Amino acid sequence: MTGCRGLVFGGMGQAGQGLVRQVEDGTVLALSREHADLADANAVKATLDKYDPTVVVNAAVFHPVDLCETEFRQSFAINSLGPGVLAAACERRDIRLIHLSTDYVFGGDQQTPYSESDCPCPLSVYARSKLAGEHMVLAASPRNCVVRTSSVYGRAMPGHGIPPFIDRMLQRAISGEATRVVDDQVVSPTYAEDLGAALWALAESDRAGLFHMAGGTAVSWYEVAERVFSFAGRLDLLSRTTTEEFGSAAARPAYSALCSERWNEIGIDPLPGIDDGLERHIAIGHPELNN
Ligand SMILES: NC(=O)c1ccc[n+]([C@@H]2O[C@H](COP(=O)([O-])OP(=O)(O)OC[C@H]3O[C@@H](n4cnc5c(N)ncnc54)[C@H](OP(=O)(O)O)[C@@H]3O)[C@@H](O)[C@H]2O)c1
Repeated sequence: MTGCRGLVFGGMGQAGQGLVRQVEDGTVLALSREHADLADANAVKATLDKYDPTVVVNAAVFHPVDLCETEFRQSFAINSLGPGVLAAACERRDIRLIHLSTDYVFGGDQQTPYSESDCPCPLSVYARSKLAGEHMVLAASPRNCVVRTSSVYGRAMPGHGIPPFIDRMLQRAISGEATRVVDDQVVSPTYAEDLGAALWALAESDRAGLFHMAGGTAVSWYEVAERVFSFAGRLDLLSRTTTEEFGSAAARPAYSALCSERWNEIGIDPLPGIDDGLERHIAIGHPELNN
């Protein structure tokens, strides 16, 4: 395939598949790590030359947040330097780059959703590596976009990506495992299909710079799990815990829900909230649970 419209790095993961599924005419190509390793500059450049896209979306990431604390080199190679190389290679070929980033760049001191003008304050190696990646992409070209999103859930290709929290919770509910979930970290769960549609709208606009794109409901991880366990009819298995009690290697923001000051520039509706997205996600993966 040459002269394709869009090329998606990390295209087999949840966000990548959410993007690819929005375009049915075969003009968007999803790349796995095997196709193009973001840590291999020559492979990245050769891939751009081979497919000659007009827009590239980078959804590739190294994001086991706790592991990143010790895998410093890999975190920065894939989340910062790789996007930097990709951005420079795109700029040299006149290709626009849209790069995905994370709500975890924020420190979590706010009690209301973070907008594009709020100051990041990353708490973990993962978050620092993602923030560095944002700077690399935005510095490479004034036409590039960085899109921060939050707690994505969707359908990766089998064997690819990290299973989303919602699917892990569903699995535990169905297999009858008692589960404790933190109730003191608030996020904006984002359905990958909705994110994909919004990203294409952005790609087709002439807008550039930093955007927030996340689901319209601010909820704690416990409140997310509560909805999932209710779907499975096993709320009895679920209990609350705290971040301190749960104890993780990496610090996470207590509050990282997102909002946007820039939606009106793209001309689309804000993304739906969790109840809408969760119903659609479960209807596909577990139709027997939807009544
Ligand atoms: N998931 C969340 O909760 C969440 C929250 C906020 C922001 N985000 C952001 O959303 C974006 C997409 O995340 P996601 O949830 O879709 O992740 P995902 O489902 O885990 O998919 C990530 C993909 O990255 C690819 N990848 C990993 N290392 C690579 C490398 N060296 N070269 C090329 N590809 C590589 C993997 O490809 P293979 O499968 O081929 O190995 C994988 O499919 C990321 O920028 C992330 O920071 C995600």
